[in-house]
Amino acid sequence: MADLAPADNLLEAGRLLFARPFVFIKGCVRIDDLPPMDRLEIAFAGRSNVGKSSLINALTGTTGLARTSNTPGRTQELNIFEAADAPLRIVDMPGYGFAQAPKPKVEAWTRLIHAYLTGRATLRRVYVLIDGRHGPRGNDISVMNELDKAAVSYQVVVTKADKPSRGDLQKAIAATRAGIAKRPAAHPELVVTSSEKGEGIETLRAEIARLLEH
Ligand code: GTP
Ligand code: MG
Repeated sequence: MADLAPADNLLEAGRLLFARPFVFIKGCVRIDDLPPMDRLEIAFAGRSNVGKSSLINALTGTTGLARTSNTPGRTQELNIFEAADAPLRIVDMPGYGFAQAPKPKVEAWTRLIHAYLTGRATLRRVYVLIDGRHGPRGNDISVMNELDKAAVSYQVVVTKADKPSRGDLQKAIAATRAGIAKRPAAHPELVVTSSEKGEGIETLRAEIARLLEH
């Protein structure tokens, strides 16, 4: 169930964009490690375990491209993915919030997330992932506040839509909608996805293709 019904040409552009073979380029632990700002970037942000890496795998159709885990805190660097002829770079981010990793490490990657999200000129859009089981939590609000303040465009993606009951999913979607209303840098529509079942993936590909049109 997706909120958006992209036009056929955008769906096709999205399909073609992600038909390219995306590969892992590098993991960055410092801003200085990032590649040169030679193309547009999209980044996937969200609480630990929300499904960021799984969503990148679903979008690129490549199981195991981004490493996933049941244990919150799997992704600990800014992981960069590119396709040779693709006009954009994908950035998988460490999660914020609870993570099963040592405190100094979590603090270091929290600083890295902040620096990247608010200081990267080529960052075209951030996808802020929110769990379809419960809607926005405190950390999600903080990150959206930060993006609004820095005027960085973002769109909310609801994840794990296959997990909750239909009623609970509807509640989480309503809470998420309420959470983005009137936010200046937020895309007004959200995309509801399940990386597991493939729901919303074509829509999200089309949304990303749309970004590259302008
Ligand atoms: P960190 O890197 O630790 O911040 O986590 P992450 O946000 O990258 O989450 P990840 O993709 O590693 O997924 C976390 C867990 O949720 C894994 O066990 C995934 O299999 C599971 N998961 C992710 N997406 C979905 C989904 O759409 N449906 C279901 N049922 N499980 C999912
Ligand atoms: Mg991850």
